[in-house]
Amino acid sequence: MSDKKPSGLQDVVVAQSSICYIDGQRGQLVYRGYDIDDLAENASFEEVAWLLWNGNLPTQSELSGLQQDLAAAMHFPKHLLELLKELPFDANPMRVLSIATAALGTLDPDADDLSPEANRKKAINLTAQLPLITTAWHHVRNGTEIPQPKADKSLAYNFLWMLNGAPPDDYAVRTFDAVLILHADHELNASTFSARVTAATLSDLHSAVTSAICTLKGPLHGGANEAVMQMLQEIGEVENVGRYMEKLRADGKKVMGFGHRVYKAKDPRAKILEKMSEELGKRAGDTKWFEMTRAVEEIFQPQVAAKGIYPNVDFYSASAYQVMGIPRDLFTPIFACSRVVGWTAHLLEQYANNRLFRPSSDYIGETGRKYTPLASR
Ligand code: COA
Repeated sequence: MSDKKPSGLQDVVVAQSSICYIDGQRGQLVYRGYDIDDLAENASFEEVAWLLWNGNLPTQSELSGLQQDLAAAMHFPKHLLELLKELPFDANPMRVLSIATAALGTLDPDADDLSPEANRKKAINLTAQLPLITTAWHHVRNGTEIPQPKADKSLAYNFLWMLNGAPPDDYAVRTFDAVLILHADHELNASTFSARVTAATLSDLHSAVTSAICTLKGPLHGGANEAVMQMLQEIGEVENVGRYMEKLRADGKKVMGFGHRVYKAKDPRAKILEKMSEELGKRAGDTKWFEMTRAVEEIFQPQVAAKGIYPNVDFYSASAYQVMGIPRDLFTPIFACSRVVGWTAHLLEQYANNRLFRPSSDYIGETGRKYTPLASR
């Protein structure tokens, strides 16, 4: 019998990486040496994508080249559209995204080419294609026309345009761009780890991103933003928050959007999203969702501060997306549309210096048993 060890790979270092750094005690998040506040304030998502993939911010000509490559990849393969139309229209969009990403692997002639050049191209293609799939699915299930992407516009603009079929205003585009930056990478979170595990078998990049999407779907990871929105919808009005929180406490249930394996301070992304959510609510003349979220924080935070539990990235993103008119079940796909950049940056790093992940378990089962024939059991 062995002593019980910490579970969930807590504090276990499984890779060396130069992509992302988190100081969980101070609540600091850094991409390639740049603080997240600096990037969210000043950079574009496309610049951050380049930074995560290549290690440095792009020059003007590198950025223009990337924008052209992304625009060239913004087209929807006919076969894929036919495939989407065959799926049940109430299918979970994260499931649809994983199916479509795996299917894109069957349509890419370079799918099994693991060279850095081919993988970089696939990373760019998937970054352009995930927003297309997410928004196209929304139109397929609603029987509405899919707006054509605009080659001269950013990924953030295109997502909002293709979702709503109306030109988004500048503030919405800038805010959504910052949202994409905030979600782009987060060290060895569960979905990134899952992507790296898949790649480490020398499986291909589409397969690794499909693994990551399936991992992100869960409510303990990317699915938490939808769970937060579900909670807000159940609460309904600001004056119901106190009663709702008392019941949650009595039932011993977790509050979604709170807590993190690494952060023992308020998630820096939550601080930025909190401001965005408030401003978006004011501009939309609909501050109810923000106010409810803040009321939940004010009641719950003092109860759990001693355990180092604070709001995470998903807590204020829910109310921000809600006032942007985004359907609840597209919240987690938006996370994927951004995190695909981080996943693929980690995959490039993994393929460049690969070793199979193969941990061990503590065996606590039976030993020495002998087979008994079916008739005598
Ligand atoms: N609400 C209430 N209590 C929480 C909590 C939450 N959201 N998150 C953690 N806790 C408590 C646990 O009950 C546990 O308490 P205990 O020690 O008294 O048993 C303690 O904090 C440690 O939690 P644990 O779930 O073991 O931590 P973890 O590191 O394995 O999990 C999360 C991290 C993110 C999975 C967890 O905080 C969680 O489930 N949060 C809600 C889902 C969420 O928002 N996920 C998105 C993360 S970005």
